[in-house]
Amino acid sequence: MTTPVAASLFTTFRESTLAGKRAIVTGAASGIGRCTALAFAAAGSQVAITDVQEDGLGETAAQMQALTGGGPAAVVAADLGVCDPAVDVVEPCVSALGGLTTLVNCAGSAGPVPPASWRRQPMAACGRG
Ligand SMILES: NC(=O)c1ccc[n+]([C@@H]2O[C@H](COP(=O)([O-])OP(=O)(O)OC[C@H]3O[C@@H](n4cnc5c(N)ncnc54)[C@H](O)[C@@H]3O)[C@@H](O)[C@H]2O)c1
Repeated sequence: MTTPVAASLFTTFRESTLAGKRAIVTGAASGIGRCTALAFAAAGSQVAITDVQEDGLGETAAQMQALTGGGPAAVVAADLGVCDPAVDVVEPCVSALGGLTTLVNCAGSAGPVPPASWRRQPMAACGRG
């Protein structure tokens, strides 16, 4: 089911220059990441989706199929806080996409992060990768 926010994003992105891009979207199992992945796909991008939540990724892939008639180029379940993002996420996605033009980092969690665990946060992991 497409949300009103996603529907308005689709309208915006259809008018944009995203057609033909090759994008990785992190945090794509829900929320902003899911909406972004769907919006890119609706605009004609090839999209690889990744998240720690495998079930949510499956739902995003199903919504993309229903919306565009095609699924994601790659679906990679991984915890960005503990995996090697370059090897475990970026490499398989780029291989499936045949290149990379765009990286959208939506993985994350709300709330304060203790300094001791900051390096395990997805944004920090993406920076390392
Ligand atoms: N929704 C808002 O209004 C808002 C506003 C400002 C900032 N943000 C930030 O934007 C980001 C996305 O927000 P959202 O509302 O879409 O949240 P969300 O919880 O719906 O989505 C975040 C996704 O990131 C994934 N994720 C979390 N940790 C991960 C990890 N270690 N490895 C891989 N995937 C991981 C989760 O599984 C989830 O699917 C969050 O960091 C949030 O704090 C959101």
